[in-house]
Amino acid sequence: MTSRVDRLLGARLPDPPESLRRGPFRAGAFSSPLHSDRRAARVGVWLGTAFLVCFLTGLLSHLIQQPPSWFRLPASPVWGYRVTQGVHVAAGIAAVPLLLVKLWTVYPLLFEWPPASTVSRAVGRLSLLVLVGAAVMQLATGLINISQWYPFGFNFTRGHYWTGWIAIGAVAVHVGAKAPQIRRALARHRAPTADAGDRAGGRAGDGDTGLPRRAFVLATGLGVTAVTLTTVGQTLSPLSSVSLLAPRLPRSGPEDLPVNQTAAAADVERSATDPAYRLVVAGPNRLELSLADLRARPQHRQSLPIACVEGWSADATWTGVRLADLLEEAGLPAGTPLVVESLQTGGLYRTSRIDEPHARDPRTLLALQLEGRPLSLDHGFPVRLISPNRPGVMQTKWVSLVRPA
Ligand code: HEM
Repeated sequence: MTSRVDRLLGARLPDPPESLRRGPFRAGAFSSPLHSDRRAARVGVWLGTAFLVCFLTGLLSHLIQQPPSWFRLPASPVWGYRVTQGVHVAAGIAAVPLLLVKLWTVYPLLFEWPPASTVSRAVGRLSLLVLVGAAVMQLATGLINISQWYPFGFNFTRGHYWTGWIAIGAVAVHVGAKAPQIRRALARHRAPTADAGDRAGGRAGDGDTGLPRRAFVLATGLGVTAVTLTTVGQTLSPLSSVSLLAPRLPRSGPEDLPVNQTAAAADVERSATDPAYRLVVAGPNRLELSLADLRARPQHRQSLPIACVEGWSADATWTGVRLADLLEEAGLPAGTPLVVESLQTGGLYRTSRIDEPHARDPRTLLALQLEGRPLSLDHGFPVRLISPNRPGVMQTKWVSLVRPA
């Protein structure tokens, strides 16, 4: 069986007529030493690392939002998700110039002659299409999403999630297939002369002199530093003054705290300001509490960040009733998986699940105040959930019901 597959993959494909070998296909068409294997491998290491970091932090975000039975997110450290999703977006943004440099370094390979000498070579080239396609799609959809522009005809999160698997799978195939070449290229010291063979469109070897190499490294480094510095302030607030390209800055928005969905967009202004509003806690001892009832209960203050799936995050101080106290009062035993529902009538994030340890964590509040003032409508008046180490989309606003899942 294996020899048959080997024979098939090794089968030579007919070479196209030599007369077609012109333009970028002609020998020596790409002489710049900056298209070398070594350069491609080095940038590839950085790009591969950025993609791996994105994939792992993205996967964590997925597990947090759609937890399988075995998965339990700890409530500490309170800044956990803030860091992982901040790193997710920062690594993704840093991958953009790296991908551009990588594609520029290797594009002469597109004009390799013959284009595919064997079946395995042809398969290798097709897999590169999947790799490049998934990589571009992942970065492009991610950037578009965090810019709050939603032109996609598909659900971003689901599309991004599955493309993430395809991208990381294609990276693994690429690295596996190219491992010997990558090892050789990285091990090779800069040779004085261009002797690395003439495989692709006469692409030169590593015989690069110092200047282009330094310029190349500098330009790539500057590109990555520039995009990172001008965006990372959305996560690292001390850098927000230089983050001119950050989609969101930590101290922007009503009460200096960014808002993703306004009360108007959620269409809750009427129900949220209705004097008949009641918070229901559906336990054996069902509670139906007015705002006054909630204000009359013991109030607790917590400094907890809002950490958005888009990578931005901001600190804030909340005051309100402990969820654990209300669960106790309603007779809901510890360990009961819970759902928190909002006054919203539609939308992906109108409900969120809350399990232990978050549900009974003393820092988890049904907040009535932000920075010592009653919540504004856009921040979730009359009541919003705030819990440590939890994505912003799961810090449900305009809470109307807490019930067993
Ligand atoms: C500029 C680059 C990127 C940006 C701006 C970005 C942005 C985002 C955002 C906003 C989310 C949260 C989605 C949500 O919960 O609704 C997310 C999740 C995710 N990202 Fe990225 N991302 C980028 C690159 C990548 C890359 C390169 C990969 C993988 C190779 C990746 C894999 C994932 C995965 C697996 C998720 C989880 C989706 C889910 O919750 O189901 N991302 N990303």
